Amino acid sequence: MAKVLVLNGSPRRGGNTDALTAKAAEGVRSAGSQVEEIFLSALKIHPCTGCESCASIEAYCVSDDDMNGVMKKVIEADAILLASPVWWFNISTYLKAAVDRFYGALMKDAAFLKGKKLGLAFCYGGDDELTSGVKNAINSFQDIATYTEAQIVGTVQGHASEKGEILKNATLMKSAVELGKKLGE
Ligand SMILES: Cc1cc2nc3c(=O)[nH]c(=O)nc-3n(C[C@H](O)[C@H](O)[C@H](O)COP(=O)(O)O)c2cc1C
Repeated sequence: MAKVLVLNGSPRRGGNTDALTAKAAEGVRSAGSQVEEIFLSALKIHPCTGCESCASIEAYCVSDDDMNGVMKKVIEADAILLASPVWWFNISTYLKAAVDRFYGALMKDAAFLKGKKLGLAFCYGGDDELTSGVKNAINSFQDIATYTEAQIVGTVQGHASEKGEILKNATLMKSAVELGKKLGE
């Protein structure tokens, strides 16, 4: 049984990112694995200040906030689903703040993500996928995966603006379930 962690970077409960992660979680469970979702916006996660103290202290960060607990779960997970709405042509502030803080784990163990499965789930309000900024979000994580030797097993992305509008896209919802299955296998 795999442990799958979902890092949800949308602050909108019942929104479009939420719909994608709920479907992916269904897929994880149907693969017989366990899933935990973290709503990053509900936590206290201080932005990285670039002080580099993490290179010389035992803790992940001098900021003693909720990210220390999240980091432990990231390390324990076999697979991670990174989910976010597109904000200003990239991932949301919440997901970016959390990912920046991965630096603290990198300082302890350069292989902290090595071999882990990653899934990506994004939604965007723009009509045109090519100019929505979703490609920047995807590219960022492709570079992160290459650098950390993690493996992206799938990406789901779709257009929606109104809260929960993405649920109308049945094909996308099915793809989100399939992505969850892949993460949970
Ligand atoms: C601050 C902010 C910035 C946004 N920037 C973009 C953008 O650059 N490109 C885009 O296509 N949609 C953008 N959107 C629209 C959201 O990506 C879209 O409404 C999405 O479905 C929201 O997902 P949620 O329901 O999970 O919050 C933005 C929305 C907000 C609130």
